[in-house]
Amino acid sequence: MTAPNQPERHAEGLESAIRRRRMRRNFQEDAIDEQLLDRILDLARRAPSAGHTQATEFVVLRTPSATNRYWDTTLPTERRKSFRWDGLLRAPVLVLVCTRPSAYTQRYSETDKSNTGRESGLDRWPVPYWWFDAGAAAQNLLLLAASNGLGACLFGPFDHETEIRKEFSIGEEQRIAAVIALGHPLPDEQGRSADRGWKPTVDVVHYID
Ligand SMILES: Cc1cc2nc3c(=O)[nH]c(=O)nc-3n(C[C@H](O)[C@H](O)[C@H](O)COP(=O)(O)O)c2cc1C
Repeated sequence: MTAPNQPERHAEGLESAIRRRRMRRNFQEDAIDEQLLDRILDLARRAPSAGHTQATEFVVLRTPSATNRYWDTTLPTERRKSFRWDGLLRAPVLVLVCTRPSAYTQRYSETDKSNTGRESGLDRWPVPYWWFDAGAAAQNLLLLAASNGLGACLFGPFDHETEIRKEFSIGEEQRIAAVIALGHPLPDEQGRSADRGWKPTVDVVHYID
């Protein structure tokens, strides 16, 4: 058994997954092994969450019929011709990363949290932790994909959140934080934003002694 303070057994794998990870936008149609998909989704949800609320949920579109319904809802055929990333549409899995903000006011009305004053409304949260927590789970999933040889691309539902919710019978109390396409990657170009490169570490990490 590993002692609690020993370094993580997979620390090196994690470091190389962080270095290698980048958004992949060109996929094979081949399905992802079901056990692998189950495993990475179960690990991804083991992310920190405020008050351990665990209100991030994954709605997983994992058949061609389900993913086609997503693209039919968000990218009408006439717009597909000019869509730069047509290989993204082949991804065999689309994960809708959902969160339920009201779960946080509920959780923070419990006795151990009620002194924080966060239970009375979503506007009482200077940092809306539901987005933060969804981001943590999303990052887990991106890294797990990278470390298991899969490709992943995160993108937003943009103006289609309501239609997506309706198409997949997702309750109105749920918000869709992001969508993650998963699959076996094919070679692709890096996105235009990524071409900007990484800022120097000194611009980002500020030590105060
Ligand atoms: C919140 C968020 C939204 C994003 N939305 C899109 C998107 O709509 N389309 C897209 O192609 N990439 C999207 N990206 C990917 C970023 O452009 C990408 O992470 C960034 O350029 C750095 O590239 P890399 O992740 O490949 O290192 C998004 C990333 C994040 C974190």
